[in-house]
Amino acid sequence: MTVSNSPASVDASAARSQKDRILIFDTTLRDGEQCPGATMNFEEKMQVAEILDEMGVDIIEAGFPAASVGDFESVAEIAKRSKNAVIAGLARANPKDIDRAGEAVRHAKRGRIHTFIGTSPLHRQYQLQMSAEQVYEAVVMSVTRARNLIDDVEWSAMDATRTEPDYLCRVVEAAIKAGATTINIPDTVGYTVPDEFVDIITMLKERVPGADDVIFSTHCHNDLGLAVANSLAGVKAGARQIECTINGLGERAGNAALEEVVMAIKTRNDVMPYWTNIDSTMIARASRLVSAVTAFPVQYNKAIVGKNAFAHESGIHQDGVLKNASTYEIMTPESVGVRASSLVMGKHSGRHAFREKLRDLGYELGDNAFEDAFVRFKALADRKKHVYDEDIEALVDQEIAQANDRVKVLALMVIAGTSGPQKATITLEVNGKQETAEATGDGPVDATFNAIKAIVPHEARLPLYQVHAVTEGTDAQAEVSVRLEENGKTVTGRGSDTDTMVASARAYVSALNKLAIKRDRVHAQSGGTAA
Ligand code: KIV
Ligand code: ZN
Repeated sequence: MTVSNSPASVDASAARSQKDRILIFDTTLRDGEQCPGATMNFEEKMQVAEILDEMGVDIIEAGFPAASVGDFESVAEIAKRSKNAVIAGLARANPKDIDRAGEAVRHAKRGRIHTFIGTSPLHRQYQLQMSAEQVYEAVVMSVTRARNLIDDVEWSAMDATRTEPDYLCRVVEAAIKAGATTINIPDTVGYTVPDEFVDIITMLKERVPGADDVIFSTHCHNDLGLAVANSLAGVKAGARQIECTINGLGERAGNAALEEVVMAIKTRNDVMPYWTNIDSTMIARASRLVSAVTAFPVQYNKAIVGKNAFAHESGIHQDGVLKNASTYEIMTPESVGVRASSLVMGKHSGRHAFREKLRDLGYELGDNAFEDAFVRFKALADRKKHVYDEDIEALVDQEIAQANDRVKVLALMVIAGTSGPQKATITLEVNGKQETAEATGDGPVDATFNAIKAIVPHEARLPLYQVHAVTEGTDAQAEVSVRLEENGKTVTGRGSDTDTMVASARAYVSALNKLAIKRDRVHAQSGGTAA
């Protein structure tokens, strides 16, 4: 997929002062993907990395190479493919992790090793079981080792905001002396508040020798809903890199949302005279893609990218917007890539028109993927009177997300109604081989899932089953999210179709495919210095 960059924004950026430039470090593929249920497969990661690269993200944290062979391979491939961004790989403070990260980013035009260790008393005592002195030594060892592999090294003081100020200054100084070029001050548990965070960054910049030679970075979690406010406070105190994710994805309540920090800086440039290299018109597209591949729906009232972010329902608001949009809009929908929903085309539309429409929506598919998408579009146009942009996006996002899946839904027949038992007959493709099974259940969804289970046996629990309509009307496509949990591992799958049962089957199978990825992944045991 290729989405055009905006030369205008790049030119404008070039003219501005470098000291006011805020580097955007996106960690959707690492911290975002790490959150329960947001697992992405290899192809999905490539898609996300591509759009991040094109929209002007400065540093893409592509993953945690030591976590599994799959993680290593996706970081290495993103490193090879990236055109503009620095590609970072995460590493704990141990030689194995650092070497693995160095190896993964070796082929990037510009690679970075991002190494971290917990510095707070809680992390030192309980998680790492190391003394302050041992952690200090691990900082020196890890940064020195990383610098021997690569010039660009970021060091993070995990749980920095709960670390004793004097000790934090000491370890930051040690990391700078050992060669770190970026110092990240994470608010790992989303505990700090803006004024306190200003004081922490100000203290480090004033007290630590060598602070002027490195870039300070923020990495704020959203447990108290303050991640964006804290990140911007950090910038006010002199930080020049913000770590964030698309849609605010991330551990627990998530990270600072990329779209929010970028648009806050852009919209309130009068009080925050900084700039980023992000082409904001690509934000809506990136948000939709990340939501589609992680199967994490974006809440309707989410700032910038929620469905209601530019919707005006009350009469007074509508009246004002019609007279002058600025009465109730502080930024235009177009500035973040949101367009009015438009009628697309019908069943008589040909390949050429379909390809043009895809380009217009920001997709550039390869020949095979295009043919598959076209066939599905035709089938959809046969069943649905009006096909909207959102329908095409749901259809293509699913195509992209499930292109390389091991298990695919080929056919489904369901008997539903008031007199049970409800029955489902499903045909799946499993590793290229067709298999059919029949099952009954407590309702058509249960019957469908039982039939899938008969072909792909598993013990996973189903903590969430959710249905949304993509557009309005009774012939709208249903978008189903299915969350599965197995041995503490959670994944979410999503499927769409005008038939809710078919969408449900696709979502369930997509979740099973993601569970297989999770099973293969050797989880990093803890955030410490594990060997
Ligand atoms: O939240 C955190 O502290 C992290 C570090 C690995 C940077 O994600
Ligand atoms: Zn984090």
